[in-house]
Amino acid sequence: MKRVETLAVASEITPLVKTGGLADVAGALPAALKAEGVETRTLIPGYASVLAALGHARSLFDLGAFFGGPARLLGASAAELDLFVLDAPHLYVREGGPYAGSDGADYPDNALRFAALARAASSIAQGLLPNYRPDILHAHDWQTALAAAYLRYSGEPRPATVFTIHNLAFQGKFPKSILPALGLPAHSFAIDGVEFYGGVGFLKAGLQFSDRITTVSPSYAAEIMTPESGMGLDGLLRARASDVVGILNGVDERIWNPASDARIAARYDPSSLALRAKNKTELQQRFGLRADPRSFLIGVVSRLSWQKGLDLLLEALPEVVGRNCQLALLGAGDKPLEQGFTEAARKNPGEVGVKIGFDEDIAHLMQAGADVILVPSRFEPCGLTQLYALRYGAAPVVARVGGLRDTIIDANEMALRAGVATGFTFSPVTVDEFVATLHRARKLFADKEQWRQLQGNGMKTDVSWRHPARRYAELYRGLLAARAAPGAP
Ligand code: ADP
Ligand code: GLC
Repeated sequence: MKRVETLAVASEITPLVKTGGLADVAGALPAALKAEGVETRTLIPGYASVLAALGHARSLFDLGAFFGGPARLLGASAAELDLFVLDAPHLYVREGGPYAGSDGADYPDNALRFAALARAASSIAQGLLPNYRPDILHAHDWQTALAAAYLRYSGEPRPATVFTIHNLAFQGKFPKSILPALGLPAHSFAIDGVEFYGGVGFLKAGLQFSDRITTVSPSYAAEIMTPESGMGLDGLLRARASDVVGILNGVDERIWNPASDARIAARYDPSSLALRAKNKTELQQRFGLRADPRSFLIGVVSRLSWQKGLDLLLEALPEVVGRNCQLALLGAGDKPLEQGFTEAARKNPGEVGVKIGFDEDIAHLMQAGADVILVPSRFEPCGLTQLYALRYGAAPVVARVGGLRDTIIDANEMALRAGVATGFTFSPVTVDEFVATLHRARKLFADKEQWRQLQGNGMKTDVSWRHPARRYAELYRGLLAARAAPGAP
């Protein structure tokens, strides 16, 4: 099997910098791909937190004045990852997160910050660094999508390109006036270039110019080709349908494994499920909930945004909690939702517990202690929290959309009889369906034997990266073979 060399580029990567599932995927894929004969190096921005975590890094290349300030490329290894870091303090060393300041507003120069990342990726891909020539450039989400455009306009030779859509809702659309600062030729501003509804579309450019497009579940791949869910890009995606493929995400079992997880109160596996109760008690304590092993504990770990449908939970709360049903929610995002849940916790002491913020330790404890993990998303490209829930013996209660539909088998009568159910799904995403499904879950929870069977089914489902990594490796090799074929463009 010929070794494949891949340059990945992403704006976040676990465990160095994370706002959501993209980081988990970027952090997990390289190790999983290694088993398939694919070597990955990942280019990431040199945020302050990244530079601090790296400690020792080698300076590889001085980029001089780069997008408005001095920049260089560093090489480093951390957490079993081989990294290139774009060290450009004027772009990445900021108060606040990777995309927005502490006030929650996007940085005004995000177009340049991420064009620089994409430009650096395309330069490395074309041989900027001695002895490094990747076969594949694999870019993730809008922040890196311009890499394919830079390659297209800078000419051959170039590596093959793969672009992964983690979320079509984040498109990187900017006014036309930024074009000169990006360093792309004026003629790139065209319908078959980077132009998108009168502005410059980063995501659009990635979809236009990458050799292959992947997204993170088969159902989402189909959904985004429809006008209802295509967010203005469905036409382009339909035109490129033969190059689009949905590959499900997996779980990084080095990090998410209840048998070895140092972040939870008691470790367990399918043969020692009873130990899980200790985590539930700990979770109840940490969230100020009444410590009661029999109560039905609903857990949520989520960004608080329209996508995630948690306004439905807020609306349904009076019908859901109380009478031995509790809610523990960890999340951050939209202020009205943060306030709504905080208020709900105040009104329902002992029954509703809320932590606003981002906390990796509690996210793990939630999976290990909650009875169900709720994901009522309006759309969900893949979703990782329901996969972690399967792994940890919490039953996922999810909307039947995107990757949620592809990963959870509803505990309807047929699936229960066949012994294959792993959770609960509902559709359409409305308060009524949502409440009815939670009641259905609660009813099954009362039947201890059926519930243990449901937990067991989830825990033995293969949600590892093994299968998805093989699919990516096949995609890379297929693409390289197609390019090498006589007559290939
Ligand atoms: P998305 O990427 O759309 O936010 P995913 O389900 O793919 O959704 O991934 C979410 C990731 O972020 C998971 O690893 C989840 O545990 C984590 N996460 C989300 N919100 C929080 C939070 N408030 N604190 C800690 N981890 C969180
Ligand atoms: C995005 C999606 C989520 C997916 C994650 C990783 O943030 O919203 O569904 O799991 O990317 O691919």
